[in-house]
Amino acid sequence: MKRHKLICVVGARPNFMKMAPLLRLLRCDGHFTTALVHTGQHYDDNLSGRFFHDLQLPAPDHYLCVQSGTHAQQTAEVMKRFEPVLMAEQPDGVVVVGDVNSTMAAAVVAVKLQVPVFHIEAGLRSFDKSMPEEINRIITDAISDLLLVTEESGRRNLLNEGIPDQRIHMVGNLMIDSLRQGLAAARKSDILRRLCIDGRPFALATLHRPANVDHPEQLDEILGAFQEISETIPLVFPVHPRTRAHLDRNHFARSGNITMLEPLGYLDFLCLMSNSSVVFTDSGGIQEETTALGVPCLTLRDNTERPVTIEEGTNMLAGTHRSTILAAWNKMRVRPKVGRIPALWDGAAAERCLAVFRNYFVAGSKTPDLSSCSLAEFGTPRPRGTGTFTELGPGD
Ligand code: UD1
Repeated sequence: MKRHKLICVVGARPNFMKMAPLLRLLRCDGHFTTALVHTGQHYDDNLSGRFFHDLQLPAPDHYLCVQSGTHAQQTAEVMKRFEPVLMAEQPDGVVVVGDVNSTMAAAVVAVKLQVPVFHIEAGLRSFDKSMPEEINRIITDAISDLLLVTEESGRRNLLNEGIPDQRIHMVGNLMIDSLRQGLAAARKSDILRRLCIDGRPFALATLHRPANVDHPEQLDEILGAFQEISETIPLVFPVHPRTRAHLDRNHFARSGNITMLEPLGYLDFLCLMSNSSVVFTDSGGIQEETTALGVPCLTLRDNTERPVTIEEGTNMLAGTHRSTILAAWNKMRVRPKVGRIPALWDGAAAERCLAVFRNYFVAGSKTPDLSSCSLAEFGTPRPRGTGTFTELGPGD
């Protein structure tokens, strides 16, 4: 039987938890061989290495070492360095996830070499083209052969953009597969004890969007709200490097009951998130994870590309001004939002993705046959990587 070769591409922190469960399943399946490419858009231990360890991702077969730059530089570097890999590997398909610069860059390279692109987390739209991720989403979706969606809004948006229905598949949410698989290990994390908040109510905050952190007046609005909120409930704030750079550059004075930390690994963060009373964030993925965990979430934006987290989940838009954030917090405090878990966010999204891929190659039909999927387990043997990436051990 011919095994179909898939190149799986990751580049930045939010990609790793989406790719891990799928890669694990693909590697156990007789129909496929895989190669993992890490572009190196996120490159340090805090945003990358630790996630490979926590999610039991194998070392990449190719590490492109792209690192930072302007959007054009970063995108161009991924394209330049990914093209020779594709030419050497000659795969049957390229799997990309999410909406970061690496996603779009890899998709463009593949499609120009006439390699089919499979986009996971397709169809999400904020309808806000000032967000770099929105541009990445639109371009990637327009050129992908298979579009795998996490929520019904994704299908609607793609149909509205003229994508044929046969190419769109509702598979659920791979990130929730990782969350469910990681919860038991996350419960063993000692992060609550280390922060002296074990058994106490606390709020968790994350912030990294350029629109929120790159301008001092805007950052000041949000930090002002955090400071006031922290007088009611202690706030734990793992700080993204982009945000840290702006805080340092503008000499922001710290006050209030806020604990600022370096970015955390997946399991420590999951432990904090699942134990927190409320989460303040501008991240896309955290809006979904809090909905899956039933934890109230206040999103520090005016829009979201993940409307199901508001319509069905625990998410609420809080805007980006001190006054709007405080108003949303006061509302949430009085009546915390209760939600339900959206359809197919059940921990089995990787199986559905696999079924779609099998059908694409094996059955030659576009209707997925879900009957013969098997569950992936943590702990499958790791293939040896051939790239220059150094896999991190538990002590790193
Ligand atoms: C990127 C993604 C965003 C995602 C976010 C999660 C794009 C357009 N944006 O934004 O969708 O939600 O990742 O974190 O792709 N840096 C480090 N160490 C690292 C990586 C980055 O210090 O390992 C620094 C960079 O040098 C840069 C800043 O962090 O100064 C921002 O990194 P960048 O790659 O531009 O993207 P993010 O803001 O993280």
